[in-house]
Amino acid sequence: MENQHIIVRVATPDDIHYSNTITDEMESSAKARGTGIAKRSPAYVELKMQEGKAVIAVTDKGDWVGFCYIEAWGHEKFVANSGLIVNPAFRGHGVAKSIKKKIFELSREKYPESKIFGLTTGLAVMKINSELGYEPVTYSELTDDEEFWKGCRSCVNFDILTSKQRKNCLCTAMLYDPLEKLKEAEEKAMAEKAAVEATTATPQLSVNASGHMHHERRRRRFKGNIRLYERWLRFKRFVLLNSKKEGGATGSKKKFFLF
Ligand SMILES: CC(C)(COP(=O)(O)OP(=O)(O)OC[C@H]1O[C@@H](n2cnc3c(N)ncnc32)[C@H](O)[C@@H]1OP(=O)(O)O)[C@@H](O)C(=O)NCCC(=O)NCCS
Repeated sequence: MENQHIIVRVATPDDIHYSNTITDEMESSAKARGTGIAKRSPAYVELKMQEGKAVIAVTDKGDWVGFCYIEAWGHEKFVANSGLIVNPAFRGHGVAKSIKKKIFELSREKYPESKIFGLTTGLAVMKINSELGYEPVTYSELTDDEEFWKGCRSCVNFDILTSKQRKNCLCTAMLYDPLEKLKEAEEKAMAEKAAVEATTATPQLSVNASGHMHHERRRRRFKGNIRLYERWLRFKRFVLLNSKKEGGATGSKKKFFLF
């Protein structure tokens, strides 16, 4: 790793010789973590490279460093940045962060109106997503595209997902909603404008026509609160895996009503 320059860029058809290395690493990393993963074939990874819907990280010497790709679902209403993987020899140096930033920019460029979402059990990914503006959401806020959910079939936790009627599983769902972000930016600009005006005007309490203060619905704010994510993951594992052990996932009468 020393003295090697890492390049993070959009993948091209010239990168297809990396596809087997990438899918092998995806599989062995999933096994090592003992977590679930939607299986990808080298041909699928190659297709993403050919379509210009993937980001790759390589060294200036041509060693493979990392990878991630874009998938569109529900008639492009949703986009997922999936398959994030970093070569173990290069982990802990900010590679995933750079790849996720690049693939996020690429997704915004290619699908400016789509909601961008991810499902993950990884704390690092939750942290990166949160910094990019994703918010944790319930599964019902994700795409209902059957093809997307079929990808979960090869995951070791698929029985948990089905036993929960696709409303929950070990993965945490995170979403970037461009419309919501636009609204937030407008609200922020209005608040700033109001603050400037307030410094030059007589202070007034703002109430609506019925005499009540208006209360805006706010999204859950988890940004940067990594401890909270950590506790959330532990809690989910405890509840969902215990439920599976005790037969909950396979349909026994014992049920949890937490979700
Ligand atoms: C998860 C993975 C992509 C992280 O790659 P990476 O290049 O080491 O990550 P980065 O160095 O960019 O780290 C990004 C942030 O996450 C944090 N982080 C990294 N690994 C972490 C971990 N295991 N637990 C908690 N935080 C972690 C880093 O400290 C960093 O935060 P900081 O910016 O505040 O320092 C890599 O470990 C991997 O490929 N794992 C196997 C596949 C996988 O889990 N993919 C995700 C599927 S959703």
